[in-house]
Amino acid sequence: MNVISVENLSFKYRRASDYALKNVTFNVERGEFLGIIGPSGSGKSTLCLALNGIIPNSIKGEFTGRVVVRDSEGREFDTRKTPVSQLSPLVGLVLQNPDSQLFNMTVEEEVAFGLENLALDPNEIGRRVRWALEISGLWGLENEFPPNLSGGEKQRLAIAAVFAMRPQVLVLDEPTSQLDPLGREEVLGLLSLLRREYGITIVLVEHHTDYILRHADRVLVMDAGRVIFEGTPAEVAEETELLKSLGVKIPASLEISYELRKRGKLKKLLITPEELLSELRSSGG
Ligand SMILES: Nc1ncnc2c1ncn2[C@@H]1O[C@H](COP(=O)(O)OP(=O)(O)OP(=O)(O)O)[C@@H](O)[C@H]1O
Ligand SMILES: [Mg+2]
Repeated sequence: MNVISVENLSFKYRRASDYALKNVTFNVERGEFLGIIGPSGSGKSTLCLALNGIIPNSIKGEFTGRVVVRDSEGREFDTRKTPVSQLSPLVGLVLQNPDSQLFNMTVEEEVAFGLENLALDPNEIGRRVRWALEISGLWGLENEFPPNLSGGEKQRLAIAAVFAMRPQVLVLDEPTSQLDPLGREEVLGLLSLLRREYGITIVLVEHHTDYILRHADRVLVMDAGRVIFEGTPAEVAEETELLKSLGVKIPASLEISYELRKRGKLKKLLITPEELLSELRSSGG
């Protein structure tokens, strides 16, 4: 079943000369991990904002087509007719910059904040706060002042605060782009854990395509406001030349294996350096 349906969605920001999204259609299936890649300005962030109704409810512009979100009972919510406060517990959004998302005095309050808005009872809030902080590896830091955390911790806190609401979908817009390699590992590790342990539906926009090509079920490639390709990671890897022409950063192992295969020196495309090395060894290269 689809958790989100995007149907012929076009959006133009106020005062912008061109549409940021042009006739975009796709579904997010319950339980899947959907990756979104594409060059800067292709509309990835705009699309994320449209998935939880910030566009068109808070950020206005010319909006045509529709986005429908379904809850666990199959009830449908058209984002144009549903307030963001009702959509955001269903479609949790995590942004690029962790500092822009944290505004409470302690780590614990940060997670409790969204839950209080759901009008849960205080015991349930306490249980969920602890649960979300344990999952994200932040239990023990619950009394810290969020600005004092490391980048990776802040972003894991932002994810915990969203995940604690038990959304149908977690949408993450380049959540690691402002982090150092360690913070990046921590955040991607947490996403892998949420997939493995809870089977949560994830929509992830990432500049570093290696994680998406290794872990996503399906990938959308965007360019100039359109979805120009949709497929499995293996199918997207076959589009190496397209990705390069768009300026999308691809893993070096993919680029090397693509070239070697073209020259008949390798049989398949490989995403990780480990896979590439082991294939080269076994093929006597
Ligand atoms: N608030 C805004 N007002 C007007 N135009 C905007 C606004 N935000 C984005 N745009 C424009 O909409 C288009 C899509 O931008 P968007 O931020 O969605 O792209 P993106 O794929 O997320 O890019 P990046 O990889 O750099 O984050 C761009 O042309 C951008 O300039
Ligand atoms: Mg963006």
